[in-house]
Amino acid sequence: MTNYHITEIADRIHWVGVVDWNLRDFHGFTTSKGGTYNAFVMDGGEPVLIDTVKAPFKDAFLEKVRSVVDLRKIKHFIVNHIEPDHSGSFPATMELLPNATIYASENARAGLHRYYDFDRKIRVVKTGETLKAGNRIFQFVETPMAHWPDSMISYMPEERVLFSSDIFGQLIAMSERFDDEIDPPYDDAALYYANIIFPFNHVVLKTLGLLPKLKIAPELILPDHGIFWRKHIGDIVDRYRSWASGECAQGALILYDSMWGSTEIMANGLYDALVNRGLKVRKLHIRSNPFSRIVTEILFSKAVLIGTPTINNTLFPTVGHVLIYLQGLNPGPGRLWGTFGSYGWGGGGVEYVTRWFKENQYEIIHPPVEARFRPKADILKDLEAYADAVSKRIG
Ligand code: FEO
Repeated sequence: MTNYHITEIADRIHWVGVVDWNLRDFHGFTTSKGGTYNAFVMDGGEPVLIDTVKAPFKDAFLEKVRSVVDLRKIKHFIVNHIEPDHSGSFPATMELLPNATIYASENARAGLHRYYDFDRKIRVVKTGETLKAGNRIFQFVETPMAHWPDSMISYMPEERVLFSSDIFGQLIAMSERFDDEIDPPYDDAALYYANIIFPFNHVVLKTLGLLPKLKIAPELILPDHGIFWRKHIGDIVDRYRSWASGECAQGALILYDSMWGSTEIMANGLYDALVNRGLKVRKLHIRSNPFSRIVTEILFSKAVLIGTPTINNTLFPTVGHVLIYLQGLNPGPGRLWGTFGSYGWGGGGVEYVTRWFKENQYEIIHPPVEARFRPKADILKDLEAYADAVSKRIG
């Protein structure tokens, strides 16, 4: 039998999650560092289990829980979130916990019954409700849409421990568990935020505002992914506020693809023109960067300028793929947008992007600049005017 690694992260609170060292694609989000699925069990008194892990790791997870506490003795099973990276092992786990009451939000209850076949009753909990489990108290806060409609977080007021589900998570595989054992992974948390939480900025701001009102002031935050926050809680909370409010957005991002090099010449011209005006600029070639990086740069950019060639009277497919990815993440509000590009026999690419901006109510910073075949001096001059307009707004 494997002697699994389990960490006692606080008094009788044990991490029984798993490390997914090989994770590279999390439903399309490129995860170059792997990831973890965190779950927790508390022994003594009335044992409590919080969350499970992705289905392929079920056996290791259950073995870990078993090594802390006899499964039949677990009295309370809290499901903070039903996305399968956390609920994949729910059906098997539930079967092995015959004496446990299961707690979840109403949306989670309905969702679990849609995902899995089972008869067991789930006790629905709402914001403000508490659970007394022996000498431990859990306070529940629904956080719908952070990250799914079912999401909630659980707080132990006496120990000041917050089980924050996806919020404050990061996808990184490592043997360390705490933020003071490594360089605090703010970049990984930003990558996670941009790709998972971005559409729900308003929920994050609302939740951050709600916590003090509910007297939730954690000294330990345990997200369901990545390391745990105990030394840098103020910093990660401030960052979340800045990401959600858009305060972090500065400078310009040039995002482009190119077919025969003309749009790239324009991207380079625009880059030089913007840098010459003293702006902070990033330039990402779409096929050279994973979408997860692209979206993270958008999180930190005030102006996003998208370059596309025209192919078959429409935009370049890779640019279209980015637009579809952005459609759901909705980074438009609070940012300024523009497009440029090249065409040969007939246009269509830049028109498509412009139409897309308008349909999604993205604010356009400047009319598009388009070059036929190769951009010549006149186009580079137009790009200087483009850079002037951008600089005037964000410089
Ligand atoms: Fe980590 Fe929304 O699941």
